[in-house]
Amino acid sequence: MLNTEKLLSQFNPVTGEMPGAPMVKRHLSDLRGCFADTAAFEKAAAAGNPLLYSVGAVEPASGAGDLHYGVGLLMPGKIGDEYYMTKGHLHSWREAAEFYIGLTGEGVMLLEDEATGESRMMPLRPNGVVYVPGHTAHRTMNVGDKPLTYIGVYPAKAGHDYTTIAKKNFRCVVVERDNQPTMIERK
Ligand SMILES: [Fe+2]
Repeated sequence: MLNTEKLLSQFNPVTGEMPGAPMVKRHLSDLRGCFADTAAFEKAAAAGNPLLYSVGAVEPASGAGDLHYGVGLLMPGKIGDEYYMTKGHLHSWREAAEFYIGLTGEGVMLLEDEATGESRMMPLRPNGVVYVPGHTAHRTMNVGDKPLTYIGVYPAKAGHDYTTIAKKNFRCVVVERDNQPTMIERK
C-alpha cells in the first residue's frame, strides 16, 4: 500500500531532522560491545550517556520493487582513539545493496565482505556517494569535528540484521593515527 503522504519529504541537512519520519536514536549505552577499547568505553559510560546518532526513516511502500531511505545524523566524538560510530549491520536479505550520500560533515564507512572478511574504508563526504554491495556489513564513523549527516537508500525488503555484528563485530576498527582515520585489525 502506497502512502502518498510520503512521496515528498523535507529534511534538515545540518540536524538530520525530517518532520513526520519516525526517528531511532542511539545513545552511548546502546553501543556497548562495539568499541574495541572497553576500558575507555566504561569510563565514558560512567560519565554520561550522550546521543551518538539518529536515523529518520521514510517507507512510502514495501512492495518487491520499492525503496526505503533514511537520513542519519552521527555526532562527533571519540572513545579512546576510536571515532563515534553506528552499530553497523548486514541486510537480512543479503543480496540487498545500498547507497549512502554524504550531506554534511566528514565521515568514513567501514565495509566488510561477509564471506571473505575483506574490509575497506571509504570516505563519506558532501557530494560523495558510497555504494555498499550486497553481502557487505557496513558501519559509519564521524571522523570530523562537526555532526555528520547522510542519506541511505536501500530496497524496501532489505531488513536490518544487527545480531550477526553484535556477535562477532567487524574485523577492523577505525582509529585516529596522526590526525587521520586509519583502519587497523581488531586485536
Ligand atoms: Fe544498510
